[in-house]
Amino acid sequence: MLGLMFCKHEPFEPSILVEEKPISLPDSFFYTKDTLLVKKGKSIQSGLPNIKDTNYQFSIRVSPDVGDKILISKQGEILVDSTLSVGMYWVTVYVHAKLNSKEFKDVLAVNCVDSIPKVKISYELHVKPIFQANCSPCHYDGAPRPNWLDYETAKSEIDFILDRTQRTPGSEGFMPNGGTSQISQQEINTFKEWKKDGLLP
Ligand code: HEC
Repeated sequence: MLGLMFCKHEPFEPSILVEEKPISLPDSFFYTKDTLLVKKGKSIQSGLPNIKDTNYQFSIRVSPDVGDKILISKQGEILVDSTLSVGMYWVTVYVHAKLNSKEFKDVLAVNCVDSIPKVKISYELHVKPIFQANCSPCHYDGAPRPNWLDYETAKSEIDFILDRTQRTPGSEGFMPNGGTSQISQQEINTFKEWKKDGLLP
């Protein structure tokens, strides 16, 4: 049987409640991603909808029916069992507002695959945020130093960026200038992978 965490087959019972302060309901309900990609054997808990309030109750219908291998949490997270077979599943999510009778629904695809293709590193999505967080106080448009918030500038100087950020903190030319520690290894790796993937915009 299903645990209390899940409410897939839980019937929704409308209740009459007198609210001191009426809640405002959104006009629509949708998941931020239409397709959730999951590697076989790995459960996903992503794709949170734009309703995070506890005054809502979620239930789902899955096509083709896979029993309890695709579930939904109380928060609206789609949970996939590690034994789910490779394939595409259509999940209709129903959301009921507990404090009145409003009902929303959204359909999304769960794509269970053998392996997830590696995401290529791109400037706008992965690299620019690192500059914004660590370099922008000094490297901006109009500064007497290169503007890393500009794709072409960053692209043409990637080797200098890799060099300066991997120097020992405190040594000459270390970046971020005056900083006491390097940016994270993950951030440095993102720069390296950006170069390897072809310095995509
Ligand atoms: C506190 C200000 C400051 C911060 C923060 C800072 N820089 Fe710099 N950066 C400078 C200054 C000043 C120079 C020019 C002096 C020099 O070359 O050392 C410079 C120069 C550079 C150069 C050499 C550019 C060239 O064409 O000669 C690189 C590469 C660089 N910074 C990368 C970075 C990166 C990447 C970050 C963020 C991870 C960063 N810097 C953060 C102040 C800063």
